Amino acid sequence: MQVIAVKDKNEMSRKAAELIIETVRQKPNAVLGLATGGTPEGTYRELVADHRQNGTSYQQVTTVNLDEYAGIDPKDPNSYHAYMASHFFNHVDLPENQSYLPNSFDLSEKESKRYDDLIASLGGVDLQLLGIGRNGHIGFNEPGTPLTIGTHIVQLTDSTRKANARYFGSLSEVPERAVTMGIGTILKSKRILLIASGEEKAEAVSKLVHASRPDSSFPASALTAHPDVTVIADEPALSLIS
Ligand code: F6R
Repeated sequence: MQVIAVKDKNEMSRKAAELIIETVRQKPNAVLGLATGGTPEGTYRELVADHRQNGTSYQQVTTVNLDEYAGIDPKDPNSYHAYMASHFFNHVDLPENQSYLPNSFDLSEKESKRYDDLIASLGGVDLQLLGIGRNGHIGFNEPGTPLTIGTHIVQLTDSTRKANARYFGSLSEVPERAVTMGIGTILKSKRILLIASGEEKAEAVSKLVHASRPDSSFPASALTAHPDVTVIADEPALSLIS
């Protein structure tokens, strides 16, 4: 695991964007695994700015997202479909039929398997972008999730629902379930880029960097089993690393 220390969230966003741009420049038909949430917002801003200024093209790229809330209308502004449209898809030349997110309505096992099969049929993810939850979740794989699992439906923990309530009117409006790529799905990616910013992530980042083996009580530790992981974290997120 390579850890790149940066000063602040802006630098984290720039560095992460550089890595994604480099991937797309080297492989114009790359498959990008994407994340939502507060952490990657600046990265998407950088990618859009680069697309406008330098013409990096997403015409041959395919994207697959990590997760989506269960039961949410893709047009709901709080859906991850809407997040991706407003932060990234609407501002670059990625064809509409080359971006995929989990289906929020079909919660069957068959549909989860279809998502994993789809990723496999694309040749797998070249670069998977991840954030990290305060409890170490990646995607919506909460502590206790089996580390080999594929895409599946999860019951969100109270701490995750509280952390995400900032986007909804109130905690009661945050969906209780979500569909997420499993840790097994994530580990199949060829390269993984995890970004973290802010003091509230310091404990999780410290546990991740010090982890020596996968432990399901701390899902991000599964990344210790992957050969090509880059962590870009800012000073506050690295503040508990000795
Ligand atoms: C989002 C996702 C989550 C977030 C994590 C951190 O697609 O899968 O694992 O990356 O909850 O969220 P933020 O960035 O909002 O702190």
